[in-house]
Amino acid sequence: MCGIVGVLMKKPAAPVMLEALRRLEYRGYDSAGLATLAGGSLQRRRAAGRISALSQLLDSEPLAGTIGIGHTRWATHGAASQHNAHPHRSGPVVVVHNGIIENWRALRDELIAGGCVFESETDSEVIAHLCATLLARGLDPRRAAMETISRLVGAYALCLLFEGAEDMMICARRGSPLAIGYGEGEMFVGSDALALGPLTDRICYLADGDCAVLTRTGAEVFDASGAPVQRPIQTVPMEAVLVDKAGYRHFMAKEIHEQPTVAGYALARHLSADRRHVVSAAAAIDWRTLPRLSIAACGTAFYAAQVAKWWFETIARLPVDVEIASEFRYRQPPMTEGGATLVVSQSGETADTLAALRYARSAGQTVLGVVNVENSTIAREADMAIPIHAGPEIGVASTKAFTTQLIALACLAIHAARSRQAITPETAAALIDALSSAPRLIAEAIALEDQIAVAARDIAETESALFIGRGTMHALALEGALKLKELTYIHAEGHAAGELKHGSIALVDATRPIIALAPHDDLFEKTASNISEVAARGGRILLITDRNGAALAGAEAARTLVLPEVPDFIAPLVYAIPVQLLAYHAAVQRGTDVDQPRNLAKSVTVE
Ligand code: M6R
Repeated sequence: MCGIVGVLMKKPAAPVMLEALRRLEYRGYDSAGLATLAGGSLQRRRAAGRISALSQLLDSEPLAGTIGIGHTRWATHGAASQHNAHPHRSGPVVVVHNGIIENWRALRDELIAGGCVFESETDSEVIAHLCATLLARGLDPRRAAMETISRLVGAYALCLLFEGAEDMMICARRGSPLAIGYGEGEMFVGSDALALGPLTDRICYLADGDCAVLTRTGAEVFDASGAPVQRPIQTVPMEAVLVDKAGYRHFMAKEIHEQPTVAGYALARHLSADRRHVVSAAAAIDWRTLPRLSIAACGTAFYAAQVAKWWFETIARLPVDVEIASEFRYRQPPMTEGGATLVVSQSGETADTLAALRYARSAGQTVLGVVNVENSTIAREADMAIPIHAGPEIGVASTKAFTTQLIALACLAIHAARSRQAITPETAAALIDALSSAPRLIAEAIALEDQIAVAARDIAETESALFIGRGTMHALALEGALKLKELTYIHAEGHAAGELKHGSIALVDATRPIIALAPHDDLFEKTASNISEVAARGGRILLITDRNGAALAGAEAARTLVLPEVPDFIAPLVYAIPVQLLAYHAAVQRGTDVDQPRNLAKSVTVE
């Protein structure tokens, strides 16, 4: 979590860093700060809250200087206050840090015993004090920085500035991502390419354990052993770093509405031109002989994995274990020899998912990363990366990444099914046809937005809601509850519809909306019975179904949203739309911060 930026420029650094922090705000928004060097001396400004608070502070107290570092924070150690905001300073050193220093207590005790005075409760402040202590012992900035870094245990991406050194910045990474940007007589560093988008398209991703010394004319990079190394400089396509609301009120609204387009684009990338074969077929895996597949992910990506389990098992007859990434490695499950693991992550930086990847790899599995950010750590560490092609997703709530994760996973499931001869070519063609209709059907679902917004009013007025569904709709029920919680702060639960009667049905009363996700599929009759059980107990049901489902069960519901009829295989892609729009409109009506809900961050790079 947290976003960091550093610039060595010819022009004033503060406005450029502020803009970069705005682009990194998706990583955390509890507090923000900048430090620059002007006339050789360090200055800094820090503010609790959003970047806008820092911007206001800079209006009244501007920062001069053409070299600087900046930070937007997602709090882990210490409250979201001004004194815990980065950059942290100790004498002639300032630092910004993303990650967690695990041995911070021991270092802090040692430094306090040596006379250091701490002003924050953060783990990060030890870095500044340690480095300043080493400078005071006579080490030059380079050696002091290297020695400081060598004593850190845990995860970090960090940038250091030194008083009097107007043309030097030292940065390092272990566990947390860091990219260096090359300009013309200017150099940049940031948590990702997105931050550096308007500054340069020439990016070098540091490898884990790397340290770099930057001047305005270039960077010297050293690997974990201290040996000089060359890391490749890549050209990042501009469309990968475009961040714009395109006239929508929120990024989330824009990203929901982009889904027909990105779904079409993703399908074009995963399928052959004649739409007969899957081409993103994960050659790293021999699907014919694969004994078992594990899929590890967090949050919305985990629910996409739950849908995928259904697909792999039903059409490819491949046994699948779906794992919550944060639990996976601690359970140390025995892994089947010759097995494979998919890790699914929009950001490709989620610490728990990355750790799951590493566990699976250490257990001898072939690992595939299903990612949106193609240069992310997960993409680079996996045996093979399968991009989902969603384009940048800025809203903290995952929307278009979910549907494009589903498309990538559906394509893999079809390919696995054909490789295992679990389905005929005709069935594969029918499934691909169904997938190809997804962009149109998603657009038809989005066209119901006005009705969904009206339904959302009821939900916005409650403090608790239940989502129910069977089969793949169970995963959508869980996703619906997560979306509603994170955006509106309304308590919500997702349940397998048939499980309700084993306890949770006690929650049913006239006040709590029960959102039933029930396309007219093979399981509809069963779900309809569960809907009747709820109706019989006075439950207030919002039924989300299609024309046939509405005709059969609409009478039981207080309100019915009628979606287009969809092939069963792609129902999760289409039913994701009302789930997203319900949460979005309920949040707008409650006046919560849609794109940056409280306590959250887009990219969760801590455990
Ligand atoms: O970047 P990732 O896909 O690994 O992120 C996983 C979750 O943190 C993410 O899906 C989260 O649950 C979203 N905020 C949900 O909308």
